Amino acid sequence: MDYLPVFLDVRNRECLLVGGGEVALRKARLLERAGARLMVVAENIDRPLQELLDHGHHHYRLGQFSSQDLQGVVLAIAATDDEAVNAAISRQAQALQIPVNAVDQPALCSLIFPALVDRSPVVVAISSSGSSPVLARKIKELVETQLPAATGTLAELLGSYRERVKQRLTAFPARLRFWEQVLDGTVPELVYSGQIETARHKLETLLDDAEAAKVEGEVYLVGAGPGDPDLLTIKALRLLQKADVVLYDRLVSTPILEKIRPDAERIHVGKERAAHLVPQDRINDMLVELARQGKRVLRLKGGDPFIFGRGGEEMASLIGEGIPFQVVPGITAASGCASYAGIPLTHRDHAHSVMFLTGHFKTEQEEPDWERLCVAKQTLVFYMGLMNLATICQRLITHGLSNDFPAALIQKGTTADQVVVAGSLKNLPGLVAASEVRAPTLLIVGEVVRLREQLNWYQPPGQVGAGDSPRQ
Ligand SMILES: C[S@@+](CC[C@H](N)C(=O)[O-])C[C@H]1O[C@@H](n2cnc3c(N)ncnc32)[C@H](O)[C@@H]1O
Repeated sequence: MDYLPVFLDVRNRECLLVGGGEVALRKARLLERAGARLMVVAENIDRPLQELLDHGHHHYRLGQFSSQDLQGVVLAIAATDDEAVNAAISRQAQALQIPVNAVDQPALCSLIFPALVDRSPVVVAISSSGSSPVLARKIKELVETQLPAATGTLAELLGSYRERVKQRLTAFPARLRFWEQVLDGTVPELVYSGQIETARHKLETLLDDAEAAKVEGEVYLVGAGPGDPDLLTIKALRLLQKADVVLYDRLVSTPILEKIRPDAERIHVGKERAAHLVPQDRINDMLVELARQGKRVLRLKGGDPFIFGRGGEEMASLIGEGIPFQVVPGITAASGCASYAGIPLTHRDHAHSVMFLTGHFKTEQEEPDWERLCVAKQTLVFYMGLMNLATICQRLITHGLSNDFPAALIQKGTTADQVVVAGSLKNLPGLVAASEVRAPTLLIVGEVVRLREQLNWYQPPGQVGAGDSPRQ
């Protein structure tokens, strides 16, 4: 983030506006809407701005900007058409730690104004951090169409109940549930259609019911997909906004964690290979304990909870303890990585079946039945196979696949760090050793890997235009 988004209280506080023309007028109107007292300094003040100043509790001075004008103001706006003057205002304001905006001169600003959707007291502020004001305006149009005109009235109604709800529902989870019930129910539509008294009555009834109800906890076992946040399911996204506490794994990417409700508690129970942060039994117990406290607990796992995700064990424990739960599937690494690497897992001409396997084995007894794997027209996908890559490739050759049988290793598939190392069973381990590939990685073995030469489509952001990489 380039700027910290904040809402500043300027009611009855003095703001300096230097300039007397059209640009200054727009800023003056905005500041006045926010209740600021204006101090305008300009050599000439156009009539509309003069009228605004005459009708409010504002001041002005005709003349040139001087450093004295910055005394006691909470922010400064340079809105003259003289770049040197704007630069001087910016320099002096910043020296005094006063936030300053120079209209259309981002380099001179310590503060920028967002595009606004105003349904006061609800205000949506949109900014592209100065990179594209037109894009910000387009997004504003989008939000405008989504927010009913009476959104502000709804906020005022809810605000008028806030204290009373706090007194009657003393536990935070109970209050949260109550407000969600109100907003998911009929109250908003009643307000939007002007039936405020009926909405008030409905609110009262819901509050009586909420006081009598017992708050029950529940668990959501949610798949977070392979990394790209846009691959989250709609249901996962909705529950991430709903959960009171989120227990997440190491493989869950940062952009996905950013989708968690900001005030929800986050617990990292992640698993490093060979270094489990929290043992599985303890995770099972935590899910039960937190749900018994009346919390909505979200267990967030990389990929899909039921594919090498131990979701079944957690579910069995919840059933045993009588905790209500639901499971939300996610896109598993095999689907995500294969799609983003341009490798279809099945194909009418090249693969009629696909097997998902773990490549994590320590002894020969734990190894898969290699004979069964080495059959025609079958794709093999190995999860957790990086450590045993050389062994896997060698075993497949020993059991019948050719040296030049196609294989690819995909690092951090679907993310900006995706790297695909493609080769053959014979040369892949060497290619991988020579590159700086890091876990998590997925190994795909099959004729379908060759199709990548034609179907490769995904260019990770940041790697676009990097030219042909030998590893691609
Ligand atoms: C414990 S398994 C969890 C699998 C997960 N439940 C799923 O459905 O994808 C972890 C393994 O998944 C694979 N994996 C997960 N995300 C990946 C990604 N973005 N790119 C490559 N491999 C990934 C790696 O093989 C990693 O070692």
